[in-house]
Amino acid sequence: MEFTFNENQRMLRDMTRDFAAREIAPLAHTMDATGEIPDALIAKLRDAGFFGLSYPPQYGGLGLDTIAYGLVVEELARQSAGVCIMVTVHNSVGYYPLAGFGSAELQAAILPRLAAGEIASFCVSEPHAGSDAAALAATARRDQDAYVLDGAKAWVTNGSRARFFVVLARTPGTTGHRDIHAFLVERDTPGLAVAKKEDKLGLRASDTVVVSLDGVRVPAGQRLGEEGEGFKIAMSALDGGRIGVAFQALGIGRACLEEALRYARTRQAFGKPLAAQPVIQQMLADMATELDAARLLALRAAWRKDQGEPFTKEAAMAKLFASEAAGRVADLALQIHGGYGYVKEYPVERYYRDVRVTRIYEGTSEIQRLVIARAILQE
Ligand code: CAA
Repeated sequence: MEFTFNENQRMLRDMTRDFAAREIAPLAHTMDATGEIPDALIAKLRDAGFFGLSYPPQYGGLGLDTIAYGLVVEELARQSAGVCIMVTVHNSVGYYPLAGFGSAELQAAILPRLAAGEIASFCVSEPHAGSDAAALAATARRDQDAYVLDGAKAWVTNGSRARFFVVLARTPGTTGHRDIHAFLVERDTPGLAVAKKEDKLGLRASDTVVVSLDGVRVPAGQRLGEEGEGFKIAMSALDGGRIGVAFQALGIGRACLEEALRYARTRQAFGKPLAAQPVIQQMLADMATELDAARLLALRAAWRKDQGEPFTKEAAMAKLFASEAAGRVADLALQIHGGYGYVKEYPVERYYRDVRVTRIYEGTSEIQRLVIARAILQE
């Protein structure tokens, strides 16, 4: 077993670190305040290849292995978790269903466009179906050479900007997971509309919307996989997505630790820096240890995915632990800052809000525990 990254992984991590410090960090506070990622930043991300991280080189992407991808995600999240999730949804749950289950023609037509920066999104959840994903109610009615989609999809990251939507819908009148199908839907398709933009606690830079589907006619060639495979396609996409969320949580947690270290070294109390006080040292030690443990779990899940080994359980463990550890780290970072941690003048206030959703989206902590428990009971 080796605990080193190869040259390519190190180079991508360092390049992203430089890019994020130069292009994202100066805008992070303003993006949080305005709830917008400027078009100019999206163009720079596009030019630098961030929308092609997962996409194969034959379609114009970088084809990164999952470890390199995770290192890039951590660096993006270190500066802006909102920018990070825009990039990761596009490169994970917006990508895997088409790459794994789209027809060769569909892949050849669409993957180059996505790798070049036309943004993808993932529509599984609904206003009344979140953790219980198989309870989704949106319908897909077969009509000759097409399907007609109706319903509403909730919590759609990238929904305002996306050109393509991976959409899950079921045969009318059915229940359960076996009659759910997956589709790739293009934004301009009549009947698809953004119904509402969410006003969120954190991750404010990223857009999260409700998408309404009103008689959306999708050619049968844009179905992903066979009829009835939609639920499994979504679940397997989420397995990969959860590794990304683990690295995202790690990036936010590292931001918290770095800011806490900086503050503790300069802030004086009782005649010496906070960093010289045992109570603060204990907190810093716990923060660093938790983040290292999270990093090892995330890397193991990524490594297994790259080896072609099953990784559902490991991805759930990584996401569960990293998101909860990063939450504890953010809490301690805020505590070390005292009152200054509670105001927007210091970035830990933003990190504290941003990290919270990593315990909710792409499967709550409770769902990760359920996935882990089912796996170990079967072993
Ligand atoms: N990969 C492939 N297939 C899988 C799978 C996986 N990871 N997990 C389950 N399946 C298969 C099962 O093998 C089973 O197949 P068979 O019928 O052939 O046996 C089928 O799917 C049904 O599985 P379950 O019985 O386990 O299904 P369930 O209804 O009990 O649900 C669940 C399982 C784990 C709770 C699932 O519903 C789940 O993961 N819920 C959370 C959903 C989620 O993460 N939503 C986030 C949406 S995206 C988002 O957050 C917004 C964004 O834009 C970022």
